[in-house]
Formats: sequence, structure tokens, C-alpha cells
Amino acid sequence: MRRMFAQGQRLRAEFGDDAVVDLALGQPLDEPLPEVRDALLAAASERGRARFGYMPNLGFPEVRERVAAHMGVEGLERESIILTGGAGAAVVLALRAFVDVGDEVVGITPYFGEYPAYCNTIGATFVPAAPSDDGGLDLEAIAAALTPRTRALVLNTPCNPSGHVVDESEMAALAEVLEEHAPVAGGPVLLIVDEVYHRLVYPPARRVDPFALHPRTVLARSFSKDLGLAGERIGYLALHPALATPEIGRALEVCMRAIGFVNAPATMQRMLLHLPVWQVDTLPYVERRDHAVACAREAGLDLGVPDGALYLWARSPWDDTLDFVQTLARRRVLVAPGVGFGMPSHLRICFTAPRERLEEAMEIVSGLVSSAPRSALG
Ligand SMILES: Cc1ncc(COP(=O)(O)O)c(C=O)c1O
Repeated sequence: MRRMFAQGQRLRAEFGDDAVVDLALGQPLDEPLPEVRDALLAAASERGRARFGYMPNLGFPEVRERVAAHMGVEGLERESIILTGGAGAAVVLALRAFVDVGDEVVGITPYFGEYPAYCNTIGATFVPAAPSDDGGLDLEAIAAALTPRTRALVLNTPCNPSGHVVDESEMAALAEVLEEHAPVAGGPVLLIVDEVYHRLVYPPARRVDPFALHPRTVLARSFSKDLGLAGERIGYLALHPALATPEIGRALEVCMRAIGFVNAPATMQRMLLHLPVWQVDTLPYVERRDHAVACAREAGLDLGVPDGALYLWARSPWDDTLDFVQTLARRRVLVAPGVGFGMPSHLRICFTAPRERLEEAMEIVSGLVSSAPRSALG
């Protein structure tokens, strides 16, 4: 992914911004809204004792309170909320706090490509489990991936890259599998739900509350995607109320310092207080998705309709996906190869690019699909 990012920068520097259609990175639809910029300015203008200094590691108490109230989960108080530098940091913090060196962490293919590195960072092993044929959870594959060393399972819903949104029956069945495994693992398995796209779920799909089904659960969230603030690094880890004990709170404080982040950026935390509403209008995303799916299918790509997140997840039309991706890149269209998500047969296309850019890109894709002697589709 990062190689594609660097390649995009090189091509833009050489040929100009307009000469490259970058569909590789997960960029949100728009620049931050004016309300977000106003809130940021208001936060940066605040004065007060140690306003810009060190603070409690887990975040400003009033911001933690606001997040807790926003979540609307019964019994969930500010002790459940830890402000972090994005959802990535929230996942790493959870791993650092709850998983030991030598433990195993199960994830579902296709997975966010940083998970193996997050696990390596804390001395744990990432163990991928295959999905079902329709891209959902394969409970048998998950059960087979669990071992006595399994300490956590990381679940990303909506999923980057597939767009799959875990439904009620899948979540309930997963909770049951984890429950059954507890005696084998010597204790309950932690469910880390990466919900960085939780506000980007498209009807009729809807979010299921994992807290209601598995008490040993933490949620990793951020404002990177829905508020367009990925570079500003603000998110949070939310603990199930049953996990929000003073002992775990102290452990998390130590982990924040041990990781070296110390706390989430002060001004970004305060910005959240100045922003009255944190909702996102999903309609423009649905329109963009539907348009992108239609263009991609017309270009000859084989793909489903994503229920959430920002991506099309298509089977590569060539046997050699990397060759296809590189050939596209030479025509200045960047997409992400599936190998980065543990599924080399596929490729990921971010659908948030402007419509006309996406159409241009799909015309080039179409030319490659139909002209390629190596096409797996003949
Ligand atoms: C599934 C998933 N988790 C975590 C992240 C990282 O999010 P953040 O920028 O909030 O750290 C991303 C970013 O693309 C993602 O797709």
C-alpha cells in the first residue's frame, strides 16, 4: 500500500496531479467540512493552564465523557474511553494491554494489511482465517484457527477491503465460538472490533453492537475517515463496561506510555468538544459506491456491492494480479493489490475519487480486461 502511495507521489511529481488517478489509498470523500475547521480553530485558540502541556494519558476527562455519552451504551462511562492517535493506535494499544509475547491473534482474510505488523510489534503472531465463499465469516475456519495460544481475535466491520458488514447472526455465532474456546485458551478470548468505518454502513446493512454479544470486547474507532482527519490522528478505544476496571485503566495508562504515544494530541481532543455533531451523511457515499460498482462492472470486473467502507473489492481479471496492477500504474491508474490484504487473487479500488476520474480509470481498466492475452477470463 505504501509502495503504491510512494509511486503515486512520484507520478504526480513527474506528470502533475491531474495525470494520475489514485484509487489506491483509503481517502474519505471530501476535505473536512467547514464546521470541522471552525472547531479546530476554536480548539487551537483556547488558553488555560497546561492547555498544551502533558495531560492524563487516557485523555482529557471531559472529552472521554463526551465520547462515552455519544456512544449511548447502557452502563458505559468515561472510564471505558481512551483517546488515541487514530484507530490504528487503538488496536495496537488493545494488543499491548491484553496480549502477551508469544500469543496468537486471529484475523479474517481479507484483512487490513497492518494487522500482522501490529501483532509483530508486541511479539504476538497474526493467524489469518479464510472467509466464507460469499465473503462473510466462516465460523468453522475461525474455530480451526483458534489454539490454546489464542488471546484475541481482531474483526474489522465494515471490512477494509471487502466492504462486508458483519450481521447479527454472524456476530452471535462468532461470540459463541469464542465462548466455547475459553476453556481451551485458559480464559476468555478478547474480541477487538476495528470499527474505523462504523459510520460508513450503507442501508439496508446496519451495524450490530458487539458489546451486546461478547462482554470481553473492545472497539477501535477514529475520526480519520468520517471527518476526513486521517493526518491529524484522533480516535479512541472503547472498552466494554465490564472491562473498565481501575486495574485495566492503570494498565492502559502504562501501555500508552510504553508505546511512546503518551496521549492523543491535545488540540484534536479539544476539537471534538467544539464540534456539536459527529454524524456523517452516508448518502453521497452510497451514490458514489453505486456509480463506481456500475462503472467497474461495465469495465468487466467481477465484484459484489460493498455494504460499508470506501472500497470495491474485485477479482483480478489477470492471473497475475501484481502484473495487472503494475500495468495499470504505467497508465497512471493506481489500485491496491490484494496480496497486501492476504488475498492475492483480488484488488482494491477506493471509490471516493471524483466520478469523472473514476470513469477515466475504468475505461483504462476495460481496455486491459478485454485486450489482455493473459486474461484469466479469456
Ligand atoms: C481497517 C482499518 N483499521 C485501521 C485503520 C487506521 O485508521 P486510523 O487512521 O484512524 O489510525 C484503517 C485505515 O485505513 C483501516 O482501514
